[in-house]
Amino acid sequence: MPVHFHESTKTFHLFNGKISYIFTIAKNGMPVQLYYGKRLPDKEDYSYLLELYARPMSVNPYFDDKTFAVEHIRQEYPSPFAGDMRTPSIVAAQNNGSRIVEFVYDHFEIKNGKPALKNLPACYCIDEKEAQTLYLYLKDEVLNTWLCLIYTIYENRNVICRSANITNYSKETFVLESMLSANVDLPDDDYEMLTLAGAWARERNIECHKLHPGIQSVYSLRGHSSHNFNPFLCLKRKETTENTGEAYGFSLVYSGNFQALADVDTYHTTRVAIGIHPASFRWPLKPEETFQTPEALLVYSDLGLNDMSQTFHSLFRERLCRGFWKDRVRPILLNSWEGVYFDIQENKILEMAQKSKELGVELFVLDDGWFKNRNDDTSSLGDWSADLTKLPHGIEGLAEKINEMGLEFGLWFEPEMISKNSDLYKEHPEWVLHTPNRNISVGRNQYVLDFSNPEVVDAIFKQMKKVLDCNRIAYIKWDMNRSLSEVYSSYWPQEEQGTIYHRFILGVYSLYEKLIEAYPHILFESCAAGGARFDPGMLYYAPQAWTSDDTDAVERLKIQYGTSMLYPISSMGSHVSAAPNHQLHRNTPLNTRANVAYFGTFGYELDPCKLSDEESIQIKEQIQWMKKYRKLIQFGTFYRLKSPFIGKETAWMIVSDDKKTAIIGYYRPLQEINSVYRRLKLQGLDPSFEYNISSADRPLFGQELMNAGLVISDYSASENNDGSNEGDYLSRIYVLNAVS
Ligand code: DGJ
Repeated sequence: MPVHFHESTKTFHLFNGKISYIFTIAKNGMPVQLYYGKRLPDKEDYSYLLELYARPMSVNPYFDDKTFAVEHIRQEYPSPFAGDMRTPSIVAAQNNGSRIVEFVYDHFEIKNGKPALKNLPACYCIDEKEAQTLYLYLKDEVLNTWLCLIYTIYENRNVICRSANITNYSKETFVLESMLSANVDLPDDDYEMLTLAGAWARERNIECHKLHPGIQSVYSLRGHSSHNFNPFLCLKRKETTENTGEAYGFSLVYSGNFQALADVDTYHTTRVAIGIHPASFRWPLKPEETFQTPEALLVYSDLGLNDMSQTFHSLFRERLCRGFWKDRVRPILLNSWEGVYFDIQENKILEMAQKSKELGVELFVLDDGWFKNRNDDTSSLGDWSADLTKLPHGIEGLAEKINEMGLEFGLWFEPEMISKNSDLYKEHPEWVLHTPNRNISVGRNQYVLDFSNPEVVDAIFKQMKKVLDCNRIAYIKWDMNRSLSEVYSSYWPQEEQGTIYHRFILGVYSLYEKLIEAYPHILFESCAAGGARFDPGMLYYAPQAWTSDDTDAVERLKIQYGTSMLYPISSMGSHVSAAPNHQLHRNTPLNTRANVAYFGTFGYELDPCKLSDEESIQIKEQIQWMKKYRKLIQFGTFYRLKSPFIGKETAWMIVSDDKKTAIIGYYRPLQEINSVYRRLKLQGLDPSFEYNISSADRPLFGQELMNAGLVISDYSASENNDGSNEGDYLSRIYVLNAVS
């Protein structure tokens, strides 16, 4: 079984075939880390890894042991102000003014399987035997409070899931000022920190820098996980590549304010801490109450970044996403947004749907602009009923006509938002997040609803229900177009105001949960002004997310490449849009736009009625191609081959589980003159299989393709080589099929 307890040394060893996570209980009752990394043999005693050394300037809990200084001990869940000077995992302000907590080990339980976290998204087990969970109980005697550290290890996944909860058994309320999900202290700092950073329209670009003494972090204080940073960091060795070397990935299953940091001390040890951002969090814990943190996921690989990513991909796909759509190929959709924006008229929409159907599209999505008086972004959020001047037969009538064409119908909502110019605002101005006596800031001309108030969540649910009860809505795009500000709730008393950011996101999760329960077949796509809430928390409810508002094929290479560090291809909303592109005004060939968008959920975001005959023929072929290969693309094993952040080319590939089929995407945005010879070393193939390569004249062994490489300077060797892909914005798709 993967969790072993060694009684004589009080050592816990969580292991599977590939990884070990080891900690022990120190003499002061504190859990201390001994090792996290590649699998070690299971032994009684690893105490040699607890390096104790009397250092000048240390403070010690004991007079008679100068070597025991918590500042120099690697810990599982550190608390501050009693000897540890680094970033704490927990801070609790008490009535007497003290912020010291001292949680001492009391007992443990080991159970098969993995618990669900109340009201929070988390990874799960299907079969109890696939994982074991350790519950480590610690007690602070002074506070009469219990802390439970929860660790799950899967038999066959290189991941440790961690979270913590705290229960107050005292008679006094105290205030949690920080309570993180996980802390890992690594023994050295010889790492580069890789994060996903960006902004609107350039989300999740890869940033990488060498660690230095001090704190380096990514975070969000925007109320959503954000365009700017993702709740993820990776520590990799300098020499780690995509396919070799050590990488530690840390991810948070959460969609609100977070912090993920590396705190390097001047003895060159590295503390990694991840959880809810303490700056916007003050949680009064009343007697008998429990607070549960979100879940952190720790992935270790000694086989490079691709292996780390693949572990996250399969975990997210198989044990985080849920429900009807989890393992299903995603419908090829056409979204109305860039086709008509707010200019919605039933006849026009029906024409677009008819043309979409002829092209082979399966799902027609009506984006923003369908509800009462919503002619631009200044009004009507909160009033979720159809604008009958635009859609005289309502949503039901429209959906029925679209269904009759043989298409599924999907709809856009922005449930958390409210326009000042709306009926809902007139009725309930107090439902807006706002701080008394302060201005209310606007973002995209809108306010934010107080989702910490269950009445608000319920009211929005009821409105959505009225629309959804026609049973003709197969898909919802749940958008969220601004950050939170003046976060204060008129529903909650003064002392609870530090809980509102977290309660807001719990409200979002609860609305998702209600909708999923009522409409289990609806496919949800999360969205936040493009990809501002592309995080694991969302994937628990919505198995796909709109990756970015930027649909330019060249920019998408970076965005999708960065996103793939953590998120599976089946989760990435990717559409072909019109040229010139609406964000960058760049003209890229239609086949390149599709060759990029294939590596995602795939769809179109344009007015199909404006396509030329030639474009229509091409799009029909693209859709047929995607229908043939989408199962492999969305559920195969993904490898990054060439990074757009490093060179002038991008390449990636997908391999089927049986390794008999593979698809390679190769992209070279700018034409070079008299360019060099190029070979692409493939990954993940069976070395002994011989593969037919689309458009090439001879089969090659996997061993050749992975070691000598695919010769890509031969322009004739590509599928989709229609002559238009010479010059700038060249892209090629290669399909490999094992010779049977
Ligand atoms: C932002 C989204 O990212 C877009 O795709 C679109 O749905 C607009 N909002 C609609 O307002």
